[in-house]
Amino acid sequence: MADDEIKLSDREFDRIRERIYKDAGISLGDAKRVLVASRLNKIVRAKGLDSFDAYVDFLDRGASREDRQVFINALTTNLTRFYREDHHFDHLVQYVGQLMARPNPLKANGKPRLRIWSAGCSTGQEPYTIAMALMGKYPQLKNWDFRILGTDVDTQVVETAARGVYSVNDLEGLSDKQAAMFERPTADTIRVPDHLRRLMTFKPLNLMGKWPVKGPFDAIFCRNVTIYFDKATQTRIFERFAALLNEGSYLYIGHSESMKAEELGFCLEGKTIYRRLAVQQTGMQQRMSA
Ligand SMILES: C[S@@+](CC[C@H](N)C(=O)[O-])C[C@H]1O[C@@H](n2cnc3c(N)ncnc32)[C@H](O)[C@@H]1O
Repeated sequence: MADDEIKLSDREFDRIRERIYKDAGISLGDAKRVLVASRLNKIVRAKGLDSFDAYVDFLDRGASREDRQVFINALTTNLTRFYREDHHFDHLVQYVGQLMARPNPLKANGKPRLRIWSAGCSTGQEPYTIAMALMGKYPQLKNWDFRILGTDVDTQVVETAARGVYSVNDLEGLSDKQAAMFERPTADTIRVPDHLRRLMTFKPLNLMGKWPVKGPFDAIFCRNVTIYFDKATQTRIFERFAALLNEGSYLYIGHSESMKAEELGFCLEGKTIYRRLAVQQTGMQQRMSA
C-alpha cells in the first residue's frame, strides 16, 4: 500500500457494499476488499476527501448523477473477449438457421424480424461476436430487420462498445477467418466494420432498474453478469428475461452460472443454454393462476 493511500475500515467497507448492492445489485464478498480500496482510492482523493466514510456520505447526500455513476463504474468487473464460451455462438447460429427456414417468420417493417439482446455487454466483444457469427454464416440477414442491443450498467464500457475499436491483442485465440472480419486502421488497432456496427444499439441499462427495451427477443445473452448478484436478484432477472423472450427462443448465461429452469419458464437444452417454454408449460404460469 502506498503511504498516501486512504485506509478502508470494516465499517466503511460495509457501507460501500451496501451502496453498490443498492445501486447495481452487486454483492461484494470479503475477498474484494483490497480491490475496492484500490479502485476507489484515487476517486476519493480526487474529490478532496480524506476518508471512505466521507466519500459514502457524499454519495448519500448531494452527489451528482455523474459522481454516482463514477462509483458504479469503478466497482464493475468488465472482463470479456471475442468468442468467449464459443459454443453459445455455434448454438445461436444453428437456431437462427431454423428461424430462417420457417415459412412464416415474424415480420417488422415488412421484413423478417430478428432481435438479440446482450445484457451486461461490457466493452462490446459479446454482441459483436454475435453479429460476426451470424452475418459470417448468413449474409442474407442483411435483408432482415436484424438488430442487436448491447447494454451495461457501466457507462464507460458502453462508450467503448459503441466505438468498436480494440487492440490488435484482442485477436489472440481467434481463427484466421474470425480475425479477417475486422478492419485494421493501424498496426495496433482493429475495428468492427460499419456493416456490423450498423446492426447495433448500445445503451446504458441497469438490470436492477426499469428496462426501456423493445422485445420480444429471439435470444438474450446475459453471461458472467448475474454471478455478481445474490440468488433472489438472479431469480427476479431471469423471470424478467422470460417475459421478453419469444416462445422457443434462448437465454444464454455464463458457464459458472445456473438457474432453476422450469420454475422460471425455461428448460435446460445444453450447457448454460435455456430454451423459453410456452407459457402454459411453465411453473410460472401455474404460480400465477394458483
Ligand atoms: C464480466 S462482464 C461480462 C461481459 C460479457 N457478458 C461476457 O460474458 O464476456 C460483466 C458485466 O456486467 C455488468 N453489470 C454488473 N452489474 C450490472 C447491472 N446491475 N446491470 C447491468 N450490467 C451490469 C458489468 O458492468 C460488466 O460489464
